[in-house]
Amino acid sequence: MAEKKCLVTGGAGFIGCAISSYLADHFAEVVAMDNLHPQVHPNKSRPDMLDKRVKFVLGDVTDVAAWDDLLKDFHPDLVIHLAAETGTGQSLTEGSRHASVNVVGTTQMLDALVRHESLPQRIVLTSSRAVYGEGRWLDHAGAGTYPGQRTREQLERGEWDFPGLTSTPFNSGTTEPRPTSIYGATKLAQEQVLKAWCLSMGVTPIVLRLQNVYGPGQSLINPYTGIVSLFARLAKEGKSIPIYEDGDILRDFVFIEDVAKAIFEAMLHGKANDAPYDVGSGEATSIARLGEIIAAYYNAPAPHVTGAFRHGDVRHASCTIDDTRAALRWAPAVMVEEGVKLLCRWIDTGEYQR
Ligand SMILES: NC(=O)c1ccc[n+]([C@@H]2O[C@H](COP(=O)([O-])OP(=O)(O)OC[C@H]3O[C@@H](n4cnc5c(N)ncnc54)[C@H](O)[C@@H]3O)[C@@H](O)[C@H]2O)c1
Repeated sequence: MAEKKCLVTGGAGFIGCAISSYLADHFAEVVAMDNLHPQVHPNKSRPDMLDKRVKFVLGDVTDVAAWDDLLKDFHPDLVIHLAAETGTGQSLTEGSRHASVNVVGTTQMLDALVRHESLPQRIVLTSSRAVYGEGRWLDHAGAGTYPGQRTREQLERGEWDFPGLTSTPFNSGTTEPRPTSIYGATKLAQEQVLKAWCLSMGVTPIVLRLQNVYGPGQSLINPYTGIVSLFARLAKEGKSIPIYEDGDILRDFVFIEDVAKAIFEAMLHGKANDAPYDVGSGEATSIARLGEIIAAYYNAPAPHVTGAFRHGDVRHASCTIDDTRAALRWAPAVMVEEGVKLLCRWIDTGEYQR
């Protein structure tokens, strides 16, 4: 690795910054290409948390000229493709932007690598649990079924679950991807585009499907992502956290350092996987429980269940990580109680305002 070069698209974001020092330690040259999306970077400046050894290049992945400028004299051995529009709910009303950045941005990158005769050895993609949609549920007899998508009418009636069915954690080997958001659909398209191209070109594609990533460094101002930081902000202001639906929504909250280690392990030792690596904590936590943990940290009033809902949210999302643990030398180390404290302490330092 010491002689090799690495390109990270979207490298100035939450995950990009978290992996930047690992990468700078291991590669001769690391370039982060990022357009400093205003929703993520309101100051339009290079984030302090991006390792100083990483070269920052301002560029949009959908922009052909930006790719030509970058690749005319930089030929990466490894690409980590993080750049994306990430708002699940937002993707319902701004679908073209999601499709353009997530799908066409990926194809522009691949076309540019061909144009510049610069095929990397590997491309790592951070896909999302959003590709699963509501996932696979079990009926009374224990048979698997895909209930599809909760309708607007269902949600307005307060019918949160699929009657008579029990949810199961996602597993890329056994759960078919059936996205229920445009964001999820574009992430699945990204996976498929990347795999088709890589396998034809002799490049190794490595796909990870991440659950809800949280921790120090995450955006506290992006209103479209990050329920953990949203709850923390409200509790810190002494407010009671509003809990959606009936509070029993399940999520797998995976700590940023554990995600960084999974990406790094997959990058070094991952295989061109038919079944992408599911990356989570392996534990499902209800939204009500998350609210309680955060309220307790800040001595805030107890959270309150509102019965409100957001279009595009799935009922339950968690995953089994046994296959990922077996395939990579990786295991999550920080569970949600501890991780939330680490996030809240970081928020309390005010470092994010710099
Ligand atoms: N954070 C999570 O919970 C989570 C979960 C599943 C998957 N992912 C995936 O991980 C990746 C990184 O997510 P993150 O949490 O670091 O998000 P983030 O928003 O913090 O980072 C994304 C980065 O991409 C940049 N970007 C956006 N559009 C761009 C464009 N057109 N050209 C160049 N750069 C652009 C942004 O400026 C930002 O710095 C994304 O692909 C996302 O889909 C994240």
